[in-house]
Amino acid sequence: MDMKVLVVGGGGREHAITRALSCNSGVRIFSVMARKNPGIARLAERVLLEKETNIPKIIRFATENGLDAAVIGPEAPLEAGIVDRLEAAGIPCVGPTRAAARIETDKAFCRRLMERHGIAGCPEYRVYHDPEEARRFIEAYDGDLAVKPIGLTGGKGVRVMGEHVDAAGAVEYVRQIGGEVVLEERLLGEEFTLQAFVDGKHLVPMPLVQDHKRAYEGDVGPNTGGMGSYSLPDHMLPFVSRADYEKALRIMEDTVAAMQDEGTPYRGILYGQFMNTRDGPKVIEFNARFGDPEAMNVLSLLESDFSEIVRHIIGGDLAPSHVRFAHKATVCKYLVPEGYPEAPMAREPLTLGDYGDALLYYANVEERDGTLYTQTSRTLAFVGRGETLDEAEAIAEKAASSVSGRVFHRRDIGTRELLEKRCQHMKEIA
Ligand code: AMP
Ligand code: GLY
Repeated sequence: MDMKVLVVGGGGREHAITRALSCNSGVRIFSVMARKNPGIARLAERVLLEKETNIPKIIRFATENGLDAAVIGPEAPLEAGIVDRLEAAGIPCVGPTRAAARIETDKAFCRRLMERHGIAGCPEYRVYHDPEEARRFIEAYDGDLAVKPIGLTGGKGVRVMGEHVDAAGAVEYVRQIGGEVVLEERLLGEEFTLQAFVDGKHLVPMPLVQDHKRAYEGDVGPNTGGMGSYSLPDHMLPFVSRADYEKALRIMEDTVAAMQDEGTPYRGILYGQFMNTRDGPKVIEFNARFGDPEAMNVLSLLESDFSEIVRHIIGGDLAPSHVRFAHKATVCKYLVPEGYPEAPMAREPLTLGDYGDALLYYANVEERDGTLYTQTSRTLAFVGRGETLDEAEAIAEKAASSVSGRVFHRRDIGTRELLEKRCQHMKEIA
């Protein structure tokens, strides 16, 4: 039976969502994106080029085309209430309501929810609405803090003391952003991402992934949206023990239960960003959507029919038997414009080479008269899949290096050396 699915968003993550859905030839894709993503456009039956937060236009497009379901990629439309409005129009969604999306869009809500329900893994934190009060706390606090704007920042709004700023810099940053902040203890450890499908009640986890936020090789340079990521054939990471994994999963399940308890059930993709510390996993943040690039790792491994998973999420009867991932390693490498993230070289032409067995996901790239051009954000992603990490890395690296133009990527993502460094770091912390 045909299923007409709306995919909202036009980045690499949404290309991965679209590709996964279109593995089933009975799925017809309808896309809404602000700018034309050539990869999505090729797979879609119809495209509406429109801001992803222009909800009235999107509702009209969805109802006119008689769509059966929607999958929401980015956070901005969630915050704008797209799910509430689509569902009111009779179109069920994979994505939380505006109230449930607060788990991501309101960092203070997230911490207070964890505290109210006694959920493990919540760092010490304080919420401030006034820069002077925040300053007093920072100056009196014995240790380093992470400074987080309460609202959405596109993943680039956190300043960590001892990493990006000192105490004076933290105070200055709080002033700059107007004093609406969560201050929390700086967590030390290794980060990992646990994503899950959630139907309001049941949660089914996806393979663990590690993202790389820093722009340059060796984890230096400014923070970015994520330069690339990897996952392993056993769906675990060597610096996360089975017990730590179980704890992280439990934190996610408890969070879903808490949301249901409070009358704002969570339906969609729940993304847990964890810091594995010497005291086990702590929550850095939750996101109300797939990660970008992490979506590309997991969706490239999905063996079950994504549209069936969508049906079960919507139907509220999601079970582990509906979700199967290949036991392979993945490495995702993003190509970004030279100068990214601070001064990206936009409108530069690119030429694709022979990218072999890698999967290519288009992101913030323009296609004009058959030529690809960079824009200001992440450009293209390649995913290598292999029996081992080395194999997957070699495929992704070869593909990324085959592109010519004013772009760069991190050659170290997915290498043995970097993985060993991560394991060593975890040992030092313990
Ligand atoms: P976010 O925008 O919340 O994903 O945070 C961006 C990055 O800031 C994270 O990936 C972490 O590396 C770092 N970060 C956030 N919160 C903390 C924390 N409490 N302690 C240490 N690092 C943090
Ligand atoms: N990769 C981090 C994010 O999607 O927020």
